[in-house]
Amino acid sequence: MKLVETVADLKCALSSLGQGTKVGLVPTMGALHGGHASLVKRSVDENDVTVVSVFVNPTQFNDKNDLKNYPRTLDADCKLLEKFGADIVFAPSVEEIYPEPDTRVFDFTPLDKVMEGVHRPGHFNGVAQVVSRLFDIVSPDRAYFGEKDFQQLAIIRELVRKCNYSIDIRPCPIVREADGLALSSRNTLLTDEGRRHAPAIHAALADSVAYAASHTVAETARFVADRIAEDGYLRLEYYEIVDGRTLQPIADWAETDYAVGCIAAYCGEIRLIDNIKYKG
Ligand code: PAJ
Repeated sequence: MKLVETVADLKCALSSLGQGTKVGLVPTMGALHGGHASLVKRSVDENDVTVVSVFVNPTQFNDKNDLKNYPRTLDADCKLLEKFGADIVFAPSVEEIYPEPDTRVFDFTPLDKVMEGVHRPGHFNGVAQVVSRLFDIVSPDRAYFGEKDFQQLAIIRELVRKCNYSIDIRPCPIVREADGLALSSRNTLLTDEGRRHAPAIHAALADSVAYAASHTVAETARFVADRIAEDGYLRLEYYEIVDGRTLQPIADWAETDYAVGCIAAYCGEIRLIDNIKYKG
């Protein structure tokens, strides 16, 4: 496995690959865990060469403290990536990715006008900036994204469509702890008390699936909100039941064949997101 830190070195490594070599890209911000591992393993299975980027992208953080506190563990990440079978780790500096400030403005209406788009203004613009930079630098055949960041996945698909990238976007299922908590780099920032309460998020979502079978969309959303409130420690930011393709809220289950519930909740100071499929 090769660790490269500059665009020039990465391009050099990629240019030595023979024609027809299939390249898989797994974009990450590091602090790797089993969720990332599932993406990397899938790419290793499906491609000749797997590039994993490790880059904490400043343009997608709308909160300076969140950026400052984001865990950075490159040495440990490289050890894991070697074990998972990655071929190239691309860990660039901010200057390397953004030699000049990126002033591009993306419009993903209506996908970016709901949920994370409302609560983290500018977040998806930053994600689109960095992911398009990575797509341009690596030119992968396939790129791997987790369903944990459900809205991000929809935005990336739209980015590919709008910019005519010929990259196959491969969605990967959410990997969870035994107690249901979705793996996240942010979990390492939870206090012991936070860690005890965090699984209640998935528990509320999972229980709401059976509840949904005999209740309306509004009642189901209320069920989840009440369960989060009952926990006493968690603080709900939003819970939206949306069409899985348009991400627009639905009022009736009959409106779509693909219904997904998306949640953001604070667990102490730490903001966690998760989602669950009701239909589709
Ligand atoms: P990061 O949070 O490091 O996540 C990298 C990839 O791992 C994303 O596609 C994310 O959805 C996936 N992932 C994270 N936790 C997961 C889990 N528990 N199960 C399955 N997949 C999981 O998402 C980002 O970084 C950034 O926004 C990025 C796309 C790299 C752009 O900077």
